[in-house]
Amino acid sequence: MSVATIEQVNSLISPKVQKYVTSHRRMLINGDWVDAKTGDTFHVYNPATGEILSNVAAGDHADVDLAVRAARRAFEEGPWSRMTHGQRGKLIWKLADLIEENLEEFAEIESVDNGKPLAVARVADIPLATDLFRYMSGWTTKIEGQTISLSSLPQEYFAYTLREPVGVVGQIIPWNFPLLMAAWKLGPALAAGCTIVLKPAEQTPLSALRLGELIEEAGFPKGVVNIVTGYGETAGAALAAHPDIDKIAFTGSTEVGKLIVHAAAGNLKKVSLELGGKSPNIVFADADLETAIQGATNAIYFNHGQCCCAGSRLYIEKEIFDQVVEGVSANAKRINVTEGLNPQCDMGPLVSEEQLDRVLGFIESGEKEGAKTVIGGHRLGDHGYFVEPTLITNAHAGMKVIDEEIFGPVVCALPFEKTEEVATQMNQTAYGLAGAVWTKDISKAHRFAKAMRAGTVWINCYNIFDAALPFGGYKQSGWGREMGREVLEHYTEVKAVCLKM
Ligand code: NAI
Ligand code: MG
Repeated sequence: MSVATIEQVNSLISPKVQKYVTSHRRMLINGDWVDAKTGDTFHVYNPATGEILSNVAAGDHADVDLAVRAARRAFEEGPWSRMTHGQRGKLIWKLADLIEENLEEFAEIESVDNGKPLAVARVADIPLATDLFRYMSGWTTKIEGQTISLSSLPQEYFAYTLREPVGVVGQIIPWNFPLLMAAWKLGPALAAGCTIVLKPAEQTPLSALRLGELIEEAGFPKGVVNIVTGYGETAGAALAAHPDIDKIAFTGSTEVGKLIVHAAAGNLKKVSLELGGKSPNIVFADADLETAIQGATNAIYFNHGQCCCAGSRLYIEKEIFDQVVEGVSANAKRINVTEGLNPQCDMGPLVSEEQLDRVLGFIESGEKEGAKTVIGGHRLGDHGYFVEPTLITNAHAGMKVIDEEIFGPVVCALPFEKTEEVATQMNQTAYGLAGAVWTKDISKAHRFAKAMRAGTVWINCYNIFDAALPFGGYKQSGWGREMGREVLEHYTEVKAVCLKM
């Protein structure tokens, strides 16, 4: 593990991306690139160095209001509302093509802005975003109502349903997969025919703004997608409360999810939420241990643990506990933590100083409460936000490290003796986003899949995503689903039409 000097990190950025990420960036409102009405900007940092990369327009109420008006006009009057479903699908497909053509640039922007390894952005973030747009492009021509067989009305009544776009949508996204989260949100909203005001996370707005340029290049009419950059407490809160937004979609912390619900109450806008998690990852003694150990390693350390579905509670059957802990620890020690653009990088810095402090604070709180840090536990280097891959034992429910989302490269390993015991423990959480079981016993695997109170269950795999697979949470992990056909329900209203012949 070696953290490069600031000069070394900066020397790896290509001239093209250097120019993009270091220049002043404006927001996209009604097809124009504009500064905030107040003229305010905020800093975007390179998490590998802690240095300022660029200044970005800090949008607030007035800018959100302009963007909402533009989205409303585009929804009510613009060419978008008159397009055929097929034309809409073609535009979405074209956007996917343009992202693919610019894959290298997107991967690099993502790595510099978020800190993640370039190689990971290349094979995960960017291709998953193009897949999502292509999948949603297909749905444009398949969003349908039904003819209804009436139950007690006489024969002269004829009825059918229409599925219509919900209207103007506000979308607030986080920093852990900046482009991919924008795709998850924009794809279904565009497929349904909505218009959008998107607010990227203040830590990582750069790929969404580049996407805005491609949205224009693809030929989406002005006002269909507006991108307002700014802080959550200002621009985000203004979106959540705006009286002319029909629906708000949010991904982020459970804490802010609750604020969104309150803010949305003013005009009772529809709400969907994809929030935190504390996902159980259960390894039984009858699993293929080599695969399970590798899987448990990836489940927590992928994207530096900054995944809402990270396998952060690792339950291990007692007889194999030491073996799995040693295996995951050995894998963790081999993870090369360095700047994301370094081709040898397996894990980059955390996204921000705030997250660095938060994650180190969790590790410290675990130690104070009697947990044991088996490997890792420290910051690496004195610039940038690097943290060692960490594994904790001797923790139990009631401790912060077990009960709360850490959102960093920190896994808690917990032994269990009986199947019934772990079946109870896995659900002892306020969250219900995802989880996994590793076993060769197919009946046990399906029993656990059914018993787990979570929106996604992986069997003998982890972190597997597909645009067709719905993703979202039970309990305090959220409301509704992203992706799949399910997400389209959040972006459409059902209208019942009844005729007397
Ligand atoms: P956050 O929930 O504050 O931020 C997520 C998004 O919400 C950002 O775009 C932010 O600007 C916006 N936001 C913040 N406050 C808002 C408000 N009052 N009204 C409207 N929008 C608002 O998350 P943050 O502070 O970046 O991270 C804190 C913790 O949240 C992490 O440690 C992690 O546990 C969790 N988190 C979960 C994510 C997930 O994918 N489920 C993603 C990011 C964070
Ligand atoms: Mg926050």
